[in-house]
Amino acid sequence: MLMLGIESSCDETAAAVVKCGREVLSNIISSQVDIHTLYGGVVPEIASRKHIERINYVIEEALSAANVTLSEIDAISVTYGPGLAGALLVGVNVAKAIAYALKKPLVGVHHIKGHIAANYIEHDSLEPPFLCLVVSGGHTHLVHVDGYNKFRIIGYTHDDAAGEAFDKVARAIGLGYPGGPKIDNLAKEGNPYAIEFPRAKIDGREFDFSFSGLKSAVLNYLNSCEMKHIEINKADVAASFQQAVIDVLLDRALRAAKKYGDGRMAVAGGVAANSALRAAIQQSCSKNGIELYYPSPVYCTDNAAMIAVQGYYMYIAGERSGLDLNAVPNLKLDFANG
Ligand code: KG4
Ligand code: ZN
Repeated sequence: MLMLGIESSCDETAAAVVKCGREVLSNIISSQVDIHTLYGGVVPEIASRKHIERINYVIEEALSAANVTLSEIDAISVTYGPGLAGALLVGVNVAKAIAYALKKPLVGVHHIKGHIAANYIEHDSLEPPFLCLVVSGGHTHLVHVDGYNKFRIIGYTHDDAAGEAFDKVARAIGLGYPGGPKIDNLAKEGNPYAIEFPRAKIDGREFDFSFSGLKSAVLNYLNSCEMKHIEINKADVAASFQQAVIDVLLDRALRAAKKYGDGRMAVAGGVAANSALRAAIQQSCSKNGIELYYPSPVYCTDNAAMIAVQGYYMYIAGERSGLDLNAVPNLKLDFANG
């Protein structure tokens, strides 16, 4: 069974061909980072235009790298939300056009379900149920994966997502966009315990997160250093901020894993590419006898292989989208019904 996956929810134009749900035959990603870097963040209008320019090329590349033709593809899956409206629409419309022209089934995929499914690509033995820590630019969630198409939210952030905090702090210390990988690198040269930043807790919600206080604490620290003419050690700020995020993510994830985890935990989303987070989670899981899964960095950040994988599991469960499929920019994590 050959699934063509298409992803265009933010600043990556991506297409992939996946065989029988788990074997990635091709995974083509055209990143727009170079352009958005000039503006310090993703400019939605530019993102849409670049997706339009690149989508056909990226799909052709994915087919040719997989050595298959469009007519050999069995179904098309596409991210329809959440994400930037204009960006999502490019992928959704191309997917609909292909499905219509070739009379092939179409499956609209929730972007975050795709991130979770990225874990299946390199871990043949991983099957639900398991707990997943989802940490991306827009989401920080603890999700219990009951089945391939059945999810339960255990915890969520009350304000900023982890990736959003990385991006904002990176901007504040002048590292530019995209912040996560830059903080990850700079933090390697800093002391994670040089500055004491807060680890917020939410009363009565032991699996929930809050990162806006941490972000403000970093900004206040930077301002007060500036006012006192104290030179800022950016590497120490990056490392101490990163450590605070990791401590909070680990604390909540381990609690949840002990309560709901079935002895297994997966990590997903762009922040799951963070080297210090991966090392810390690995260490804690080994200590607590929890089996840990995370995708290679290329499958943590946005890609279309993960959309094709989730699309496959939806497809074999009989899910189909009509040609009226629309982009849903604020598509919720309404996992109750799959
Ligand atoms: O999953 P993703 O590619 O897109 C969304 O669905 O949001 O996540 C992007 C986020 C950005 O905030 C980016 O700064 C963060 O993931 N990120 C990282 C790293 N690589 C990407 N954060 C920390 N360390 C990294 N190495
Ligand atoms: Zn994403």
